[in-house]
Amino acid sequence: MSSQVCIRVATLADAEVLVVLAEQTFRATFGKDNVSENIDAYVRDALSLGGLLDELADGANTFLLTFIGAAKQPVGYAKLRTGSTAAAVECSAPIELQRLYLDDGAIGRGIGAMLMGQCLEHAQSSGHQTVWLGVWENNARALSFYRRWGFEVVGEHVFQLGADSQRDLIMMRPIAGALTE
Ligand SMILES: CC(C)(COP(=O)(O)OP(=O)(O)OC[C@H]1O[C@@H](n2cnc3c(N)ncnc32)[C@H](O)[C@@H]1OP(=O)(O)O)[C@@H](O)C(=O)NCCC(=O)NCCS
Repeated sequence: MSSQVCIRVATLADAEVLVVLAEQTFRATFGKDNVSENIDAYVRDALSLGGLLDELADGANTFLLTFIGAAKQPVGYAKLRTGSTAAAVECSAPIELQRLYLDDGAIGRGIGAMLMGQCLEHAQSSGHQTVWLGVWENNARALSFYRRWGFEVVGEHVFQLGADSQRDLIMMRPIAGALTE
């Protein structure tokens, strides 16, 4: 990765660039494997500007934005959330990595690794001991990325994508030790 990558915490002022990125990356990731009505319903209900403003204002959430060079539009983002849990997550001081998305042009360049590294650093510095996440069972690329980063499947839950009840795998990894793949 030759251009400089900058990762920083998002503020309310980032809502408009974030909503564009969130919709674009969600559609790019899941659009080809799902019916458009379900994708449209999810985008409308979960990725609206008003919804993102509420999420940004909620102290339980931290959004990290990734920029390349001096660009104003981020190429990736992550959302970490405290206080959420899943039945399979039995550990002290957990934090959820609820979203991790890069736009298509940024994938496969080591930027996902930088963003994951920053997520783990944030989790550690805010006193958490374990990171957990849910990932669609058919998202092979993300599953292999998370496995490379030491996440292990500990259970499953249902993710509602419009009218489709999908199986998400719950993965978890301790934060202690080296924050690397
Ligand atoms: C999950 C995700 C963030 C991971 O990011 P990624 O770019 O795929 O992963 P990495 O940053 O580890 O990059 C991996 C590739 O970059 C290469 N790479 C690693 N470091 C590099 C560097 N410094 N310079 C150039 N290339 C590098 C690796 O060799 C690897 O290439 P390969 O895939 O051809 O083997 C990304 O795939 C993504 O956004 N996917 C769509 C959204 C999604 O599914 N999110 C998860 C929802 S649960």
